[in-house]
Amino acid sequence: MLATNGVNGPLKGIKVLDWTMWQMGPVATAMMGDMGADVIKIEALDGDAGRAVRRAITLDTGLVADRNAYFESGNRNKRGIAVDLKTVEGVEIVQKLAEKTDVFVQNFRQGVAERLGLGYDTLREINPMLVYGSASGYGPNGPDSNLPSFDGCGQARSGLMMSATPAGALEPNRVTQGASDQMGAIMLCLGVLAALVARSEQGVGQKVDSSHLGSNMWLQGNGITMSLLTKGGKFGSYERKKAANPLSNLYRCKDGRWVQIMHLQPDRHWVPFSKVMGMEEYIEDPRFATMDDRTQNNTELVEIIDRHFATKTFDEWDKSFREAGDFIYSRVQEIEELQDDPQVIANDYITTFDHPALGAVKMCNHPVTYSETPAGIFREAPELGQHTEEILIDELGYDWPDIERLKDKGAIL
Ligand SMILES: CC(C)(COP(=O)(O)OP(=O)(O)OC[C@H]1O[C@@H](n2cnc3c(N)ncnc32)[C@H](O)[C@@H]1OP(=O)(O)O)[C@@H](O)C(=O)NCCC(=O)NCCS
Repeated sequence: MLATNGVNGPLKGIKVLDWTMWQMGPVATAMMGDMGADVIKIEALDGDAGRAVRRAITLDTGLVADRNAYFESGNRNKRGIAVDLKTVEGVEIVQKLAEKTDVFVQNFRQGVAERLGLGYDTLREINPMLVYGSASGYGPNGPDSNLPSFDGCGQARSGLMMSATPAGALEPNRVTQGASDQMGAIMLCLGVLAALVARSEQGVGQKVDSSHLGSNMWLQGNGITMSLLTKGGKFGSYERKKAANPLSNLYRCKDGRWVQIMHLQPDRHWVPFSKVMGMEEYIEDPRFATMDDRTQNNTELVEIIDRHFATKTFDEWDKSFREAGDFIYSRVQEIEELQDDPQVIANDYITTFDHPALGAVKMCNHPVTYSETPAGIFREAPELGQHTEEILIDELGYDWPDIERLKDKGAIL
């Protein structure tokens, strides 16, 4: 019988072996844990390198009780075992676990798993219905498939950096917080979930590969395909002062708060927008009569709208927009502001979790809500090797003398 972790999420009853490190692999399996899967994280005896991350750009990740914000974030909802996979006994433990698992996930450099006896071809012999998820920098095939990769490499190679770079900037820009790792993780999780459906509907186990390159191309997939369909049509960088559609642009309010207006049917919104902005004198102005006219005279119109936005604070505009009708806009926020955003609070997008070592903490929650099988944060990230004995004894039938023997051999912590 499958062990479950007592959580009624959509993946209740699914067991995941999580041999991952850093962010891309761990976040994929943390999402499965959010959804109620029973996730066992396998670490080397010196731990996932992510435990040692001490700084994320300017943010100090260190927490009390020797905890680490980077590791806590990517490894919630997991139990953990520490196994030296360079011992025969260690590999045997993981192979035995793989026999009983539904999903196995790893994000080591291509070839590492095969070298240690944990490649797909070996594990499918042991468990033919296994869903084997693997993440790499550049995909499973091709000249660079074996190259190591971190977040920035994915952003660089996929075009994401240049997409995030303002026109005229002399240096490429980078989206912070491991966005490319996060995207790789989301796609890996999605692939594994689809393979679980294929397993139940078609009776097949299989290997699922995601990569920084493929995932971050897909993040921009609409643009890439539009460029391809238009035979290399260039997207160009966003230029606020020369926005092709000034009704879909960024403006600064009197209090310094930026607002993104997003009227993609500008002819529908031109008159009501001009009225709410107090720009009635421009409604019949031939320079701005149609979308094409406004594109033609965009710099003048952006300057006019700039001047008007500068007359009221964001809250005043917000009130005016809500009262006057149907406008599409959002304030521009810093991530530190999100925890106070009533909309975030109402949807529990940031949730409070009672961490045994840290106390009540706020964390970014699973992003999807399920009406019948809720996802969430149920368990803190494991300490290194915290559940090794419990798992070996309860799940694999080892006894205490076995545990002592394995410790003596250096196979477990
Ligand atoms: C992340 C990355 C750059 C790290 O590279 P690295 O530190 O050189 O590590 P590798 O993946 O090459 O190898 C991992 C090593 O740890 C060892 N290892 C892993 N788990 C182990 C365990 N439980 N016990 C013993 N050894 C273990 C492996 O055997 C390997 O050592 P070896 O080369 O001597 O066999 C690389 O793994 C990578 O590119 N992965 C794919 C893309 C990715 O996920 N990047 C991270 C995004 S957050």
